[in-house]
Amino acid sequence: MPRFFATCPRGIESSLREELIELGAKGVVSGTAGVSFEGSWKTCYMANLQVRSASRVLYPVLDFPAYEPDHIYHNVLKHDWTKYINVNQTIAVDSNVRDSKIQDLRIVSLKAKDAVVDQFREKFGSRPNVDTEKTDLQISVRLARNACTVSLDTSGGSLHERGYRKFTGQAPIKENLAAGLLRLAQWDPKTEALLDPTCGSGTFCLEGGLRALNIGPGTLKERFGFQKWKTYQSDAFDECLSTCHEQELIQLPRPIFGFDKDQRVIAAAEKNSKLSALHNLVKFKHQALKDLEGPPVDGPGLIIANPPYGERLSEIEELKDLYSFLGRLYRTKFKGWRMAVLTSERSLMDCLDLKPAKSYRVFNGSIPCFFEIFHN
Ligand SMILES: C[S@@+](CC[C@H](N)C(=O)[O-])C[C@H]1O[C@@H](n2cnc3c(N)ncnc32)[C@H](O)[C@@H]1O
Repeated sequence: MPRFFATCPRGIESSLREELIELGAKGVVSGTAGVSFEGSWKTCYMANLQVRSASRVLYPVLDFPAYEPDHIYHNVLKHDWTKYINVNQTIAVDSNVRDSKIQDLRIVSLKAKDAVVDQFREKFGSRPNVDTEKTDLQISVRLARNACTVSLDTSGGSLHERGYRKFTGQAPIKENLAAGLLRLAQWDPKTEALLDPTCGSGTFCLEGGLRALNIGPGTLKERFGFQKWKTYQSDAFDECLSTCHEQELIQLPRPIFGFDKDQRVIAAAEKNSKLSALHNLVKFKHQALKDLEGPPVDGPGLIIANPPYGERLSEIEELKDLYSFLGRLYRTKFKGWRMAVLTSERSLMDCLDLKPAKSYRVFNGSIPCFFEIFHN
């Protein structure tokens, strides 16, 4: 059975692991910034269509020690690349290097690319072109402590790009990080309402909505990497897509609200919701936090917020009142609700003046953040 490695932002591996287990993947093992699993190619197709916290699903094909650039060339040459694409198709190589004798990732990419194209030239007398925009076979090379893993990117680009978020405000979080954090917060879409009081372009709300309606985020995408390969099993993929669509709902079990003080980002969130399947289902409103008086709906719910962080000290000082207000509002007005907050600033999180039930370290891009969950 093939083994795959799904990558994700650091800190949400446990969300990704849970999702893969729910999908029926076998031998699921958490790593750093990813989770490996076994399954058929259908499992891989389903992971691309349905898993919300993954960035990419990689298919590792080679593992070898590499101390010199030529080690990469000779080992990559050993794999048969001609079984995936024709000579008139395109390739691209992305590399990542950490704690290794070879330090220059351009050399790593170059050696891997040379080996692949030389193999085609040897066999067919011509070679595939490199195209980083319209890539048919995306090859990923990871060199960590002189151990090299070469994988095919079955996703063919980052899965966080669902296709619905064309409009953003300041510092939007990636869609797959938002989905992973909702799971880390153990949000139950069947029993809990969702409210993001500083929603920006609406990422938490839209990811929550897709999950509540059982809409696989990959079903919104136009194409995956594996669909361009000679090994693509189109019947199996069509079956996966039908299975996904059969599970979809049309009504949210509990309401979802997104508020922001900036009218422009609320307009962006509305436009994004039109591009997803959630138009008119998620309730976006132009409203500042100070005007929020309590839960917008009866029953239990989760507040999830990624308020502004501020980079300079003066900005952080200015934001302290916002966080203090949020903490006080939650404590006094949101009985029976839970709250989850993402911020990079410890001092701002402390301004909430709440004791977290759970506390996580996660990465928002390259920014290390705190993600804390509170119960009331
Ligand atoms: C880091 S961004 C949120 C980004 C969002 N998670 C996304 O993915 O687009 C913080 C948001 O907080 C909003 N904000 C700042 N102060 C606010 C306040 N007092 N009331 C409501 N929203 C506020 C900003 O307008 C901004 O959209």
